Amino acid sequence: MNPKEKRYKILVIDDEENIRKSLKMILEYEGYALLEAGDGLKAREVLEDYPEIDLVLLDIKLPDIDGLALLGEIKKKPFPPEVIMISGHGTISMAVEATKLGAFDFLEKPLHRERILISVRHALEARHLKSAYQDIKKKTEKRYELIGQHPLIKNLWQEILKIAPTNATVLIQGESGTGKELVARAIHAHSPRASESFVQVNCAAIPEELIESELFGHEKGAFTGASERLLGKFELADGGTIFLDEIGDMSLKTQSKVLRVLEEGEIQRVGSSKIIKVDVRVIAATNKDLRKEIKEGRFREDLYFRLNVVPLYVPPLRDRKEDIPLLVNYFCAIYSEENNFKRKKFSPQALEIMMKYPWKGNVRELKNLVERLIILTDKEIIEAEDLPDYLGQEKEIFLPDFRKIKTLRDFREEAEKNFILYKLKANNWNVSRTAREIDTPRSNLYKKLEQYGIKILAGAGEAVASSSENEEGEESPNSKGQDSR
Ligand SMILES: Nc1ncnc2c1ncn2[C@@H]1O[C@H](COP(=O)(O)OP(=O)(O)OP(=O)(O)O)[C@@H](O)[C@H]1O
Ligand SMILES: [Mg+2]
Repeated sequence: MNPKEKRYKILVIDDEENIRKSLKMILEYEGYALLEAGDGLKAREVLEDYPEIDLVLLDIKLPDIDGLALLGEIKKKPFPPEVIMISGHGTISMAVEATKLGAFDFLEKPLHRERILISVRHALEARHLKSAYQDIKKKTEKRYELIGQHPLIKNLWQEILKIAPTNATVLIQGESGTGKELVARAIHAHSPRASESFVQVNCAAIPEELIESELFGHEKGAFTGASERLLGKFELADGGTIFLDEIGDMSLKTQSKVLRVLEEGEIQRVGSSKIIKVDVRVIAATNKDLRKEIKEGRFREDLYFRLNVVPLYVPPLRDRKEDIPLLVNYFCAIYSEENNFKRKKFSPQALEIMMKYPWKGNVRELKNLVERLIILTDKEIIEAEDLPDYLGQEKEIFLPDFRKIKTLRDFREEAEKNFILYKLKANNWNVSRTAREIDTPRSNLYKKLEQYGIKILAGAGEAVASSSENEEGEESPNSKGQDSR
């Protein structure tokens, strides 16, 4: 937000009423919103009631509490306001102490209008920059938020929080698009290394001849094309975390070098004999079955054991379907905001269909679909009929859309068709059983199937035809025999 557009809130804490009054006058004239407190007790109350206060002008000498102590208290709050200290008998030592505690500036009485205004303006500029930075940080964090309430995800979170503070190497396994990268970022974000770098290396995307210098760096002239010294990812991650993504795709040769780093904590740039110590936490991920890769000679067993100190498994989306509405809502919020749309939603029926779909591409597939639908659907509520057909036949079983139907006859037919489809499905596409259940002759049901162009699914139909011939006296759905009853 532009600092000029926002009406900043300033709290004046001083026991002298005259000072409060004159500060109020000066600052309100400049367009700021003013609050005041005459002692520490009242100040705490106001700060509690208005957590959005941007700036505090704080007298160092208050009747009931030491101003410096109150400063310390204020600065302990999450996203605390800026504080300018005011003193009648200011000494240098106090100013130093106040600065240490996080005060922005120090004003001495008697107060001068110009000096006050300059200090206030600077403090609010600092406040503005900090809040802009907070916004960016929050947005980035939001982009990597690992959402889920399912017990499997709660469990995963528990494991993440347990291992995050340690230096243990972690191996994350799970199908493509399940959220392995998010897990790796979450571990880093909750570790003591959080303020250091998180360096990601996609082992599958880097050509074999480049991966070594990518990981360990190279010296100038180490090989043709090495025109400059390059720092490797391990060096860049020093003090932080390296995320070796798609480690199952790393060549055996590179695997042996990575093993060495894990064992010795040392690297060597390509073309250099110097050994460099690095302090790096390693998190690796793969969607391959590493045990199988080991059996087939494509992955080193010793590296596997080194990496697999803490194994984490991210379950596929189909094993935690109950989280689908939550994820859909979350992606809706993100993409509605990103595209400046009013917040869109999915209807309960649409969500129901989405929960039944097997999601081979897991959360990534779900996320991409939600994004596409938000952009392409011109409605606030996305309904079952707006979903792509491949999500399943279930969408046909819902009530027809009244707005699209003109006559009573059309409505009756549409409803009848959907009813028959629903019952057929519930009876595993067995026509005899369905006819009995809905209490109509089988011949009549066949007529209806023809009328509505309903074809029994080939696979299901065959299965029904062959297995039910004996028990149910069912004919092949394609033979459309006469009703024998
Ligand atoms: N639980 C979740 N909450 C929110 N977003 C998620 C979740 N899981 C995955 N995503 C999103 O889905 C996408 C895929 O996630 P991610 O890249 O972490 O998967 P992956 O397991 O690393 O996939 P791959 O094996 O293909 O590399 C990302 O855009 C991610 O933000
Ligand atoms: Mg990934």
